[in-house]
Amino acid sequence: MIEFKKVVKSYDNQIKVVNGLDFKINDGELVVLIGESGCGKTTTMKMINRLIEPTGGEILINGKNIMSINPIELRRNIGYVIQKVGLLPHMTVGDNIELVPYLQKWDKKKRRARAEELLDLVNLEPSQYIDRYPNELSGGQQQRVGVARALAVNPDIILMDEPFSAVDPLTRDQLQEELLKLQDEVKKTIVFVTHDMDEALKLGDRIAVMRDGKIIQYDTPENILKNPVDDFVEYFVGKDRLWKSPEMLFAKDIMNKKPIMILQDRTPANAVEIMKEKNVEYLLVVNQVGDRPKKLLGIVTPRELSGKGISQYKMKDIMRTQFTTVTEKTSMVHVLQTMKDKKIKNLPVVGEEDGYLKGLITHTSILNILTEAISVYDDDREGY
Ligand SMILES: Nc1ncnc2c1ncn2[C@@H]1O[C@H](COP(=O)(O)OP(=O)(O)OP(=O)(O)O)[C@@H](O)[C@H]1O
Ligand SMILES: [Mg+2]
Repeated sequence: MIEFKKVVKSYDNQIKVVNGLDFKINDGELVVLIGESGCGKTTTMKMINRLIEPTGGEILINGKNIMSINPIELRRNIGYVIQKVGLLPHMTVGDNIELVPYLQKWDKKKRRARAEELLDLVNLEPSQYIDRYPNELSGGQQQRVGVARALAVNPDIILMDEPFSAVDPLTRDQLQEELLKLQDEVKKTIVFVTHDMDEALKLGDRIAVMRDGKIIQYDTPENILKNPVDDFVEYFVGKDRLWKSPEMLFAKDIMNKKPIMILQDRTPANAVEIMKEKNVEYLLVVNQVGDRPKKLLGIVTPRELSGKGISQYKMKDIMRTQFTTVTEKTSMVHVLQTMKDKKIKNLPVVGEEDGYLKGLITHTSILNILTEAISVYDDDREGY
């Protein structure tokens, strides 16, 4: 675990370029630092391997203050990938990757085997690339070699400072996919700097949004999208981005949290009355009302009510008990597909474990959300 405690960095002019950073990065986590140019991302990152030393506060790795660790030893356990790759031009790809193992006195055979293994891992055919020079590779291929080199001595931590910003969008996309796959296999602790919110949302387990040397919000991609802490983060995320990421929308985001319910002991006459009053044709039968958690027992529509005008019937006698539900975490994409496939207009949302009623997705609740999205686009247009 990497832990920042009240970390400050200032230079001669006393301006605090990093101003009281307090955050933790767990083992195996990929954390993205994002923010505008000059906000202190690179400085933050370089303090982790002591390329820059803090003016105040402390940084701990696995509980140990890094100022008490020999910098060379510290960096041995920290891979570093930078934007301009930094491959040595007069050395082959293989020699570039083997550099740190070489400095650590690995023997030739072991170094070469490691280089081949790593080239494989970053999707470059070893026999084809190992003896080439960096200028004989495309930007994306060089970037892959940069990643391979950072992994050479199997460090626990990898720092990546805008590693993919110099390549074209398609290659970038591919490198991002590869990094995610790689991370799945090697499970490193990765600190990744970017300017690009799409990249941050795609890669980050958590995202730290920085401004003026401070972290404004440190959260999961989902929370950054849905609950930006202030206007700056909201602006930075882009108001309409949530709608470009439907996979980030879940049943709980589009459901009506106060659907119309009826108690299991009420009569058909009661049901008709509620339907008229609330102008709905779909009632959720529950065991209790009010704010307490309630079990969803069944569904009543005009079909269940027809011919049941006699009051000895209770909701529990006539309700439909076979019906489709989803949980709060079901993706919007899946919700829409389900409603379409089953030709249903109402989809109750229940607790994953307890089966308690959480809400109801209807065409209207979806329309409401869409209207919100459209008005966001309208807002944007007015800005031009
Ligand atoms: N050696 C230095 N002396 C004085 N100020 C410095 C020094 N190095 C960096 N700074 C300042 O510290 C601030 C943060 O720089 P940093 O490189 O961390 O920004 P960044 O967020 O990585 O920006 P970018 O996105 O442009 O890479 C900047 O305002 C920069 O001018
Ligand atoms: Mg930078």
